[in-house]
Amino acid sequence: MTTTDDRTKAAAVDPGPLIKLTIADCAAKVLHSAVTLGVFGALAEGPADADRIVAATGLHPRMAGDFLDALAGLGLLERTGDDRYTNGPLAKAYLVPGTSTYLGGFVELTNETLYGTWGRLTEALTTGTPQHLDPDKGGFVGDKHKDPEKMKRFFAGLDAYSDRMGVEIAGRVDWSRHSSFVDLGGARGNLASVLVKEHPHLKAGVFDLERTRPLFTEHVGRLGYADRIEFTGGDFFTDDIPRADVIVLGHILHGFDTDRRRELLRRVHAAVNPGGRILVYDRMIDDERRDAERLLSSLHMRLVSPDGSEYRVGDLYAWLREAGFTDAVAEPLLGTHTLVTATR
Ligand SMILES: C[S@@+](CC[C@H](N)C(=O)[O-])C[C@H]1O[C@@H](n2cnc3c(N)ncnc32)[C@H](O)[C@@H]1O
Repeated sequence: MTTTDDRTKAAAVDPGPLIKLTIADCAAKVLHSAVTLGVFGALAEGPADADRIVAATGLHPRMAGDFLDALAGLGLLERTGDDRYTNGPLAKAYLVPGTSTYLGGFVELTNETLYGTWGRLTEALTTGTPQHLDPDKGGFVGDKHKDPEKMKRFFAGLDAYSDRMGVEIAGRVDWSRHSSFVDLGGARGNLASVLVKEHPHLKAGVFDLERTRPLFTEHVGRLGYADRIEFTGGDFFTDDIPRADVIVLGHILHGFDTDRRRELLRRVHAAVNPGGRILVYDRMIDDERRDAERLLSSLHMRLVSPDGSEYRVGDLYAWLREAGFTDAVAEPLLGTHTLVTATR
């Protein structure tokens, strides 16, 4: 029963943040739908009034006003006058399709992978089982390997990141000291393409499952690096990992349990040339376990994979030492990830 005392105590605490958190997914969903419907593309050439946006995107007039105003309220659009809209700075920089900085692929990937699975979080929390495996329950992640189109969308979403990761990593590492690299689990070769573009002296390789080869061939061919990057098909737990000065593991370790991570790092150590380096990036958890975004990413991995999760930087340091690497250093990457480098 609520007492006067309870009300007095509660009045001292603003409930606003709680209400905002309760409906936080509504804002995310507005962004996802805007990308899917092509709102930001429709405004790529400049401002337009609501009628023109409705005609270009298929928005229903009953929903359009509040939807476009909500996008403006979230800072993604700007409104002038009664119903004239233009892309805001974030949308101009990252949400216009066809630009080199486009992050819409990641937004769409998030939309496709998050909503079905996070809708079953309570079930996962009480059973411990991943919730993505049944395609009939909207399991985009679970069944993507069976459908090349889904696989392509998955990789396109990741590439929204790897484009920018590649530029960062190209600038952070002294590549003049190295002559080769392999991107382990390098998917369709996007990060590798950025690295060879920035550092043409590098001999480049991508190692991934054989089923990824056609997507690699298509993507790297389209980017014009077919003769610069060699694809090796195989399983990095059982097949030989090609030797290189630098081996990159991006979004790999978070897919496996601790024993598999340690096993893989030992295998990578054997493949890195002496004096070479390993580069690992993931959304690692800070050692104090306080960064909510990283912890949400970790829960996401637990939701979509049987054994995966994010992991602490300190844990990675220990696994790297155990595998034989030295001088591990962690640094932030793009504000969303952590890059750890270590020496063989
Ligand atoms: C989450 S994706 C990361 C792709 C890329 N590194 C990035 O960060 O954008 C994981 C990649 O690892 C590959 N992979 C998963 N298990 C593998 C295995 N046992 N051997 C080789 N590649 C594997 C997948 O095919 C996929 O391309």
